[in-house]
Amino acid sequence: MSGISAFWQSRYRTDAPADMPDNETLRLLLSHHSVRAYLPDPLPPGALEIGIAAASSVATSSNLQSWSVVAVEDAETRKKIAALCGNQKHVQTAPLFLAWVVDLGRLERIADRSGFGHEALEYQEAFLMSSLDTGIAAQNAVTAFESLGLGTVYIGGLRNHPDDVAELLGLPPKTVAVVGLCVGYPDPEHQTGIKPRLPQDVVLHHERYETAREAEAIGSYDQRADAYQQEQGLPSRAWSDTVAERVARVKGLGGRHVIHDVLNRLGFLLK
Ligand SMILES: Cc1cc2nc3c(=O)[nH]c(=O)nc-3n(C[C@H](O)[C@H](O)[C@H](O)COP(=O)(O)O)c2cc1C
Repeated sequence: MSGISAFWQSRYRTDAPADMPDNETLRLLLSHHSVRAYLPDPLPPGALEIGIAAASSVATSSNLQSWSVVAVEDAETRKKIAALCGNQKHVQTAPLFLAWVVDLGRLERIADRSGFGHEALEYQEAFLMSSLDTGIAAQNAVTAFESLGLGTVYIGGLRNHPDDVAELLGLPPKTVAVVGLCVGYPDPEHQTGIKPRLPQDVVLHHERYETAREAEAIGSYDQRADAYQQEQGLPSRAWSDTVAERVARVKGLGGRHVIHDVLNRLGFLLK
């Protein structure tokens, strides 16, 4: 097997269809894996800035550009953030931590300066829009960093204590750090493989959403995902069991079920 078929095989653990397009960008995208072990080396010059230029190059709802990012390199601050994110050690060891911020505050300040109101910011739609824009921007930065041989891992744990994170990073009202990103050179001694994903039978629907073959397709995916677990020396586990357990109880939200009240405290008074 050669070319893009090998990348497809690693991603899905099934044979690639014939005649797949193939180029360097596609190979990079299909090679993504999270990195949780980093060398202490700093990023090369310009890496942060070109990563953010990639983020800034994404599409943005109504051109509102409603996201910001706080780059944290200071070791003491990274240590504090690691503690706030459930003591995830990679947050402390990666030389760069990016806090991606849903930023309705800048739009509010612009509206205030213009002398108009800003009632459109007080609806869940505004928050949803900004969250989407923030995630889309962050992912372009991930791809840019990966193209430079850097590794990354998103940190949803940044939402464990959003008030404390806001204070630590000096975030103004109507802003919230929704996800973090560790960035650095992967430690070659401690890397994981490509984690297999759900087959396209499950996620890709043609013309109408179809669930008829879902259970069977997920059953065979469970076996492939379990094989990955075992290769990595992790407990044998069906993916379905893991996700079913995760969604079974509010406990699965890791204490983040209070996000609505937290957002109110941070100035988002969402209707
Ligand atoms: C929004 C988001 C939040 C995440 N939060 C964490 C996190 O807090 N800690 C962590 O180690 N990985 C985190 N991850 C990484 C996922 O666990 C990882 O992407 C998933 O297991 C698939 O593995 P892969 O990225 O290696 O393919 C997060 C990923 C996303 C997209």
